[in-house]
Amino acid sequence: MTKVPATWSSLNALSYAPALESASIVKLRTEYGLFINGSFDAPRTNEQFATINPATGETLTNVARAGEADVERAVQSARRAYEKTWSTMPGAQRAKYLFRIARLIQERSRELAVAESLDNGKPIRESRDIDIPLAAAHFFYYAGWADKLEHAGFGTNPQPLGVAGQIIPWNFPLLMASWKLAPALAAGNTCVLKPAETTPLTALLLAEIFQQAELPPGVVNILTGDGETGAAMVAHRGFNKIAFTGSTEVGRTIHRSLAASATPLTLELGGKGANIIFDDAPIDEAVEGIIDGIFFNQGHVCCAGSRLLVHESIHDDVVARLTRRVDQLRVGDPLDKNTDVGAINSSEQLERIKELVAAGESEGATRYSSSCELPSKGTWFAPTFFTNVSNSHRIAREEIFGPVLSILTFRTPEEAVAKANNTPYGLACGVWSEKGSRTLWVAQRLRAGVIWANSYNKFDPTSPFGGVKESGFGREGGRHGLEGYLNV
Ligand code: NAI
Ligand code: MG
Repeated sequence: MTKVPATWSSLNALSYAPALESASIVKLRTEYGLFINGSFDAPRTNEQFATINPATGETLTNVARAGEADVERAVQSARRAYEKTWSTMPGAQRAKYLFRIARLIQERSRELAVAESLDNGKPIRESRDIDIPLAAAHFFYYAGWADKLEHAGFGTNPQPLGVAGQIIPWNFPLLMASWKLAPALAAGNTCVLKPAETTPLTALLLAEIFQQAELPPGVVNILTGDGETGAAMVAHRGFNKIAFTGSTEVGRTIHRSLAASATPLTLELGGKGANIIFDDAPIDEAVEGIIDGIFFNQGHVCCAGSRLLVHESIHDDVVARLTRRVDQLRVGDPLDKNTDVGAINSSEQLERIKELVAAGESEGATRYSSSCELPSKGTWFAPTFFTNVSNSHRIAREEIFGPVLSILTFRTPEEAVAKANNTPYGLACGVWSEKGSRTLWVAQRLRAGVIWANSYNKFDPTSPFGGVKESGFGREGGRHGLEGYLNV
């Protein structure tokens, strides 16, 4: 008789041995300067800050904090590049650089995926299979447009705007950089990009890729810094375009400060996406869609399906299946290939999540959290959902931006639409039903920029993305994504 080793019997049937991606794939410098005019140099502020690994709390490296004088230098560098090289270069030539950048992202994809997971806390499975391939795909896609702008539907001779200032958040660092840079560059603009303060790493690696690709100096400048750096960019009147992705609150501030200027603005802000499950939906697929809608990227997703609207007759069944599925989610080391849910990006974000979850409990909703063990170091939150949620609860109205789902019910399609639209936001929704006619009926009545049918959180560079109402304006991706960077 073979004896089962004690360690085996103590593991439950679904445990896996760790399959780790090595952190040593990424060679980080001990400090990074600002990327201005094609090379890294020290900030005029002489200030630095640390970027940390949220899964451990350890410092990964130190980056420069750009101030007003650095914004000025970056704008001048981008202006020179715009006038001397980039805007006068034939589109086919710009395309060559963009193709080169896309290929280099692919070549360095393992390194970029590990760096993204270290800096952001997201599972390597996501950075490796989603963030980095999609970032490359955006450069490939817009490279294809660079010499065909006159066929994009914006007139026979569309012109670039000039120098674009781009401010991005921390939830999809490299992907958001690519969403912003690729269409702007294809259209002939030059850029000053500011990554978020908690996730500057992959933007700095992208700067190295620009050097490798021999992108002319000044075409892209990267300023690391915090909200003050972002505010200094918005206050600088040398930009011909400002594009922002982040919180609705900061989006409002930017909108106000540009109100008196003629600078075109694109805002991609928060959301409170409704994922609507009808009683005829394929139930197991729908449960997977619910999981993907809210637990993908720890729920740090502007278009997350954070409000589940489920047909009353299947509510109990869906909740039972969801409970089982939530308990199976593996929470832990982002570099473990088996991890489903990684670390919360920062302690500030963790506090916001905790505060809203406490509000949910005190307002009378019923909480269920996975009983998974959380690592002792770093910032973590167990996958959670609330039942008995009413539309007036804060957890049904405010963006939690974490692994927390609010479940509401409906009885008729009309009620589903009314509840889904009962939010100041309008970014994304999901509809699950076997009936195409019902899906279309609902989709036509939903006030949201993106609607997924029998799927959720699917992204493609050819497809426009953006919101209505307080979720912002302007589109990124697709032919539409060029419009914000052309003088049309
Ligand atoms: P945030 O909006 O403060 O940060 C986004 C970017 O804006 C960062 O690069 C930041 O440095 C910059 N920024 C901050 N203040 C600025 C200012 N006054 N002028 C110009 N740029 C400025 O977002 P934060 O504080 O990290 O997150 C707060 C909440 O915002 C989250 O809990 C979430 O609900 C929401 N959020 C939504 C995102 C989305 O993709 N829709 C992304 C990030 C956050
Ligand atoms: Mg970090």
